Amino acid sequence: MTGIDTLLHEERVIQATETFKDNANYSDESLYIEAKTDRLGFWANRAKDLQWVKNWDQVLDWQRPNAKWFVGGQLNASTNCLDVHLETRKNKTAIIWEGELGEVKTYTYEDLHHQVCKLANTLKTQFNIQKGDRITLYMPMIPELAISVLACARIGAIHSVVFGGFSADSLQNRIQDSESKLLITADGGYRRGKIVPLKQIVDEAIAVGCPTLKSVIVVSHIGEESNTTLLKGRDFDYHTVIKESSDSCAPEPMDSEDPLFILYTSGTTGKPKGIVHTTGGYLTHAKYSTKAVFDLKEDDIYWCTADIGWITGHTYLVYGPLANGATVLMYEGTPDYPDKNRFWDIIERHKVSIFYTAPTAIRAFMKWGDDHINQHDISSLRLLGTVGEPINPEAWMWYYEVIGGSRCPVVDTWWQTETGGIMLSNLPAINPMKPGSAGLPLPGIEAKVLNPDGSDVTVGGGLLSITEPWPSMLRGVWGDPGRFNSTYWKKFDTYYAGDGATIDPDGYYMVLGRVDDVLNVAGHRIGTMEVESTLVEFPGVAEAAVVGMPDEIKGQAIVGFVILKESFEPNDQTKAELCEFVAKKIGAIARPKKIVFTPDLPKTRSGKIMRRILKNIAEGKEIGDTTTLASPEIVTLLQERF
Ligand code: WTA
Repeated sequence: MTGIDTLLHEERVIQATETFKDNANYSDESLYIEAKTDRLGFWANRAKDLQWVKNWDQVLDWQRPNAKWFVGGQLNASTNCLDVHLETRKNKTAIIWEGELGEVKTYTYEDLHHQVCKLANTLKTQFNIQKGDRITLYMPMIPELAISVLACARIGAIHSVVFGGFSADSLQNRIQDSESKLLITADGGYRRGKIVPLKQIVDEAIAVGCPTLKSVIVVSHIGEESNTTLLKGRDFDYHTVIKESSDSCAPEPMDSEDPLFILYTSGTTGKPKGIVHTTGGYLTHAKYSTKAVFDLKEDDIYWCTADIGWITGHTYLVYGPLANGATVLMYEGTPDYPDKNRFWDIIERHKVSIFYTAPTAIRAFMKWGDDHINQHDISSLRLLGTVGEPINPEAWMWYYEVIGGSRCPVVDTWWQTETGGIMLSNLPAINPMKPGSAGLPLPGIEAKVLNPDGSDVTVGGGLLSITEPWPSMLRGVWGDPGRFNSTYWKKFDTYYAGDGATIDPDGYYMVLGRVDDVLNVAGHRIGTMEVESTLVEFPGVAEAAVVGMPDEIKGQAIVGFVILKESFEPNDQTKAELCEFVAKKIGAIARPKKIVFTPDLPKTRSGKIMRRILKNIAEGKEIGDTTTLASPEIVTLLQERF
């Protein structure tokens, strides 16, 4: 593992401004000291910031790898995001929503509370949803998505949000794996001016087979143009069904360890895994980390650009900011619609003060040029965040200087669907920033860089591990305890993240990216096996191997090395059909950037594909040792064709 040398030599250290430090929520070491002195006591103090129906008896019960946090405690997540604010923030704006077409809707905390209660009552009384039932949400970024998430939480139904860019097959798999009883969708969503026909995709998924699914609730977002039909007895119009429901709904008291949600993410096998998060620990970390990392204050306008279909949207668009009583901006569409000014225009009009986005977006903004930004007054910004993939120091500096006007601290936050919340990030007023480095573990989090044999790396590179249980850790893989154990707990005694990282003499972590067969394309996790198994479903494909190649904007892009059956033509049309096939089967985010046809793949004599060699070809690196290959000459051919 390399990287540390570059970090040390190119190291540039940047401090937050004095004004920022003077006003910060946390400006001294007290949180770090509290956590180091008594870690469990520290977490108990964070949990006390929530409203509990019943106090816990024990902070942590740790039977590796199974953790129970705040054992015996009871609370409700929606109460903590809504009801707790009704006394002091009833008329405060909770959500400012902007549609891609430009319309704006705002919801006060009281409005949001009413809407959530109405839907919660509807789910209970008209659809007989009980605590523990699963509900799939397949929706565009509209307020009803946030409302649906909170309505599930209110009645103890477990939500499984499926990103609206996934295909019918991907949706069907997730509905069936979670055995969802009900699905909430919309007639469609807008994306770059086009309509994404969500309800039609739902119909296709159901046609494949969703035996557990009894009802579908459809938000009319597009209207007539969507040509949506509702199947009598199965499909219901959202606003019609909630109309008569009461706007007050007693929250279900949930055990701290009751599941709050399932969120599917890609792994190293073809089948996505349903990551399970529970209530008390998750919400404790979500609330605390939002306040500490983003320095969230009462009058901030906070914008996280992630879709609620990903974990970032769950924790840092819905639960974390709302638990803190924040004003959250939610935007439906893409940054380049109707033109590349859109984000800066939104920031200017809504006076956004905290902005949290992904490196892939930052690199795209950089490429689009500063002109778009200079046309707008974005001086309301006071803090910037990044998440999802490593950020190169060049993009970091551009973000800091051009977007942040060298005035806003940048928090580079490392975490995962599995960790539930931020694990590595500087606290903006306390730790100096080093571009490209996520910084220190948050107070309360213990991490290490380990050698493959499990020994510690004090300075240098290795594999990232979280070494003590934390409240928002995943509690399992839905329906698959074996996979939970083997993926995260077999390699080391402590949690194995699947990322390579370096640690420098200041204890700063720089996360280099996945070391397993998972790609990170524009911040989205995609398993190489998922794409491979889809490619071989295509009638003409005999065999396929998938690896990542560097991409200037997306970080990584997908390359498929494909062996065609003899009767199929290896031409450009077949390439285009293959790419389309993958996009249709999994979702557009998995569309390969490049297909290379080949008569053979580099294999060991026992027939195992040597992906290392394919990776080196795709990354333009030295190929390394090929003596163990069955036919080493294939390497030259692949290099020529790449
Ligand atoms: C990567 C997203 C470097 C990492 C919250 C991780 C990062 C995966 C960073 C999780 C970062 C996320 N620096 N890499 N700041 N943040 N990653 O589950 O490879 O969608 O394992 O969660 O994204 O992706 P996930």
